[in-house]
Amino acid sequence: MSESFGLRASVAGEEPAVKLDDVVKRYPGGVLALDRLSLSVAQKEFVAISGPSGCGKSTLLHLIAALDHPTSGTVWVNGRDLSTVRDLSYYRRHEVGLVFQLHNLLPRISVLANVEIVMYGTRLSSRERHQRAMELLAEVDLEGRANRLPTQLSGGERQRVAIARALANEPKILLADEPTGNLDAESAQRIMELFGRVRDTGVTVIMVTHDEVLASMADRTERIERGRIASSTVNR
Ligand SMILES: Nc1ncnc2c1ncn2[C@@H]1O[C@H](COP(=O)(O)OP(=O)(O)O)[C@@H](O)[C@H]1O
Ligand SMILES: [Mg+2]
Repeated sequence: MSESFGLRASVAGEEPAVKLDDVVKRYPGGVLALDRLSLSVAQKEFVAISGPSGCGKSTLLHLIAALDHPTSGTVWVNGRDLSTVRDLSYYRRHEVGLVFQLHNLLPRISVLANVEIVMYGTRLSSRERHQRAMELLAEVDLEGRANRLPTQLSGGERQRVAIARALANEPKILLADEPTGNLDAESAQRIMELFGRVRDTGVTVIMVTHDEVLASMADRTERIERGRIASSTVNR
């Protein structure tokens, strides 16, 4: 894979990419979704978060993505306490890339435009946006699909477009919530291989799945039960 997934020259800090310290998340109404959970993910690690439905996986990912904030405890990303980050929209747009179970592609514009659109507002010219989007689509083996509409792709292909889009602004961390949830086994496997290649380019990948077999394809699996880490398995 070329450098186009590209990291800014990494300031190879020793700090973990993501660190949660004693994090509690209690939703209004009283549900305790995370119960003093602590977790550390190293730079350039590919970690799968597994566990049964309702155990707190999505909540964990939302806190790392700064889509929500903890009731107590601290979420650190690349050495920064997220509660002190002022420009959270910049953080969500540039520092983390997000992939969800449903790809959320815009249905009426091409695959290419779906990737280009997230680079509007950056300093890239339209030519550069086009070039980078084409490179990203090549990385996910979809350059031949650039001019199709999302509806003209298979589920696995759409999810690969969503991954290309999530990487467009060169995040250091890719967060994926059940990205293979709607896919057949072969397409799911392919997505896992793609995440492995993304990790190889220097991006930290944190992926949520309830599928134990897929989870074992990551470098490490953290299993959550009832809002706490129940077990931790190093796979390679
Ligand atoms: N916005 C919310 N308001 C209230 N309860 C919620 C909310 N989101 C999730 N929950 C509850 O928190 C728990 C953890 O949910 P979630 O993190 O979505 O689990 P998972 O992704 O592992 O299935 C569940 O009991 C769920 O019902
Ligand atoms: Mg979930």
